Amino acid sequence: MSAPRGEFTSRFGFLMAASGSAVGLGNIWGFPTNAASNGGAAFLFTYLILAFALAYPALMAELIIGRHARANAVTALKSISSGRGSTMLAVFIGFSGIITVSLILSFYAIVSGWMMAFFLDPIARLIGLDGFSQWLTEDAVLRNSIFVVLFMMLTVVIISAGVKDGIEKWASRLMPSLVIILVLLIIYVLTLPGAMDGLRAYLVPDFSRIADPGLLVDAMGQAFFSLSLGVGTMLIYGSYIGKDENLPTVGSLVALLDVGIAVLAGMLILPAMYVALGNGVEIYDAAGGLIAGPRLIVSVLPALFNTMGFMGIFVALAFFSLMTIASLTSSISMLEVPVAYGVEYHGTERRTAAAVIGAAITLIALIIVFNFDLLFDLVVTYTTEKSQPLLGFAFCIFVGWIWSRNDILAEIKQGCSGAESGLFWRIWPFYVKFICPVAILVVYFQ
Ligand code: TRP
Repeated sequence: MSAPRGEFTSRFGFLMAASGSAVGLGNIWGFPTNAASNGGAAFLFTYLILAFALAYPALMAELIIGRHARANAVTALKSISSGRGSTMLAVFIGFSGIITVSLILSFYAIVSGWMMAFFLDPIARLIGLDGFSQWLTEDAVLRNSIFVVLFMMLTVVIISAGVKDGIEKWASRLMPSLVIILVLLIIYVLTLPGAMDGLRAYLVPDFSRIADPGLLVDAMGQAFFSLSLGVGTMLIYGSYIGKDENLPTVGSLVALLDVGIAVLAGMLILPAMYVALGNGVEIYDAAGGLIAGPRLIVSVLPALFNTMGFMGIFVALAFFSLMTIASLTSSISMLEVPVAYGVEYHGTERRTAAAVIGAAITLIALIIVFNFDLLFDLVVTYTTEKSQPLLGFAFCIFVGWIWSRNDILAEIKQGCSGAESGLFWRIWPFYVKFICPVAILVVYFQ
């Protein structure tokens, strides 16, 4: 076996790392527009309920397995299996998670590369490099390839440094910066004309929408992607939590931070979109919905910043540094999943594992860049809509049906001695056993 395992040195360090994983592109371009198109605060309300009733229990399943086994996903799932059948299933699920998260990273790195390019653009304009600025903001294979490689190199460098000196250190620096930048941007944007219309679209509830099954499906998918569930990311971060830590509490703090930052992001994005509308920028797509996803970030918002004159340069700089930070703290959590497996299962040195696996994922990302129209949507759909929910389902089955209840309780009691009589233990086992698997399947077959 290899060197001793890393561990987060404090609760703060874990919270920054795990919320860094959770808070990513999904929060900023997914949540706000999803909310605005689905009845505003009615969506928010549904999202809050689903996040705590369904995603939080699934998050806890991963954290508990991880901390119990103190190992990568494959070894961890094997260790809680009890027969030949479940052990084989464990290996299959563990590997599927590793492959899925690697593929998620391969498309995530492409988009993150765009964020880096748009972050450099205002700097290029400030120093008068207009040609370079144009190159940075024009979608092209060469630019996309270079920035995928750069972004993956950053991710590999942080992961090579390990849990404490890489993940924890960088998340603890970057996440507070992210919150500060976000709040400053919100304050600025809310002073602009039209911002209040955006806030209204976001926050005024249309409760007639609340029973809409489409709304439920959207909210659930959003919650699972946003909490990085199903692929072993939270499992591996859980495996680095100290045994004296109260798991139900830290888990709920992670969920709160994730939801809180998504809600805050809405207070930036929606007002910004309505300001853009007032400045003559198109914010609706052909079907009449709000433009969401990558197009929102690389076309609507830059167009808005361009209408802001000199100030727009600084707003763009702040916004894309926010996006780059959000991407990086998520991408490291993805790369850690296969790297931890390589280090622990095959005894590979961490730096080597990070470099080799990082290079392989970069290669896949480049293949996607070169065949963008053919592959990008395909990989996104396959990983986030097909594979991730099924794996989330499998995790719930492991914890609800395969792992022994006494072992689970014993694990939770470390760091939370009164767990047996607490609210968490009264509700959660039932949830992961019945409610979560059924809910995931229902949503999956929608
Ligand atoms: N949760 C992140 C976001 O909202 C993305 C992310 C990080 C992720 N790790 C993951 C998604 C693992 C799925 C699986 O952008």
